[in-house]
Amino acid sequence: MTDNVPAGARTSPATARNRAPILEVLRPRLPPGARVLEVASGAGEHAMFLAAALPQVSWQPTDRDPDALASIAAWQVQARLANLAAPIRLDAADAVTWLSGPVGAIVCINMIHISPWAATEGLMAGAGRLLTPAGKLILYGPYLEAGVTTAPSNLAFDESLKGRDAAWGIRDLADVTALAAAHGLRLAERIAMPANNLIVVFEKP
Ligand SMILES: C[S@@+](CC[C@H](N)C(=O)[O-])C[C@H]1O[C@@H](n2cnc3c(N)ncnc32)[C@H](O)[C@@H]1O
Repeated sequence: MTDNVPAGARTSPATARNRAPILEVLRPRLPPGARVLEVASGAGEHAMFLAAALPQVSWQPTDRDPDALASIAAWQVQARLANLAAPIRLDAADAVTWLSGPVGAIVCINMIHISPWAATEGLMAGAGRLLTPAGKLILYGPYLEAGVTTAPSNLAFDESLKGRDAAWGIRDLADVTALAAAHGLRLAERIAMPANNLIVVFEKP
């Protein structure tokens, strides 16, 4: 994504493609002054890019994987952004690892289909606990939807995910929405994104 990759940092071509469209959706939806918790930051490139482009919010990257945390930290140290915090270990499925709230928004990019369902259950429970009133949970990734033909590329991706781990796979948006509702979050927006992905925004009333 960049020529200037610091030691210990990872980089991903997918992030180079999706970061600008994600930014355009986030920009009008993150209230100034909000503390944003990013769950499953991965390499940390989204955190660096989004925090740089959105100086009006403070960004807290997290992941459960030590290698991801090292990569995020390498980017974060190089970026030297006042609004980008050092990464924290957070396992979405383990409530003990969640920081205490409140947060104005939670952003989670490409985790729900690449983790067991327990991670989504933990994510929704955490969002229900931590989000302020009118706070948003913003998810990016592919979904299955009733009445919407699934793109062949997403069907193939689903197969490959399940081949890597039987507990992974593209989720049905109706299941995710029902789980969110059980934690007091309502589906506020569904936004089509490039490459057959969606951004779905859940809101705490
Ligand atoms: C496909 S990567 C996506 C990373 C990044 N958000 C992106 O879009 O490039 C999935 C990430 O989810 C993280 N992850 C998986 N299960 C998790 C969990 N239970 N809690 C937190 N992070 C988790 C992995 O460590 C990995 O960094």
